[in-house]
Amino acid sequence: MTVIQTAGLTKQYGSLIALNGLSTTIGAGITGLVGANGAGKSTLIKLLLGLLTPSSGMLPS
Ligand SMILES: Nc1ncnc2c1ncn2[C@@H]1O[C@H](COP(=O)(O)OP(=O)(O)OP(=O)(O)O)[C@@H](O)[C@H]1O
Ligand SMILES: [Mg+2]
Repeated sequence: MTVIQTAGLTKQYGSLIALNGLSTTIGAGITGLVGANGAGKSTLIKLLLGLLTPSSGMLPS
């Protein structure tokens, strides 16, 4: 079962590309989100929660 799906998900803050064309499918179960400082983890979560709008690309409907 797919829980989260994105396609080409991109978020820019001005000229800074925080998330660059993320396409992923995440299934049920425990999933970790790991990355260096500034990798875009919080940006992704905010997009998934609807707290931010994508610059381009798709989120789950
Ligand atoms: N509101 C904002 N305005 C401008 N740039 C931002 C904003 N929020 C985040 N950024 C920038 O976007 C990039 C991704 O930031 P984000 O906070 O998503 O990373 P992160 O993976 O959560 O980092 P951390 O591990 O430090 O929490 C960074 O370069 C950050 O400086
Ligand atoms: Mg963060």
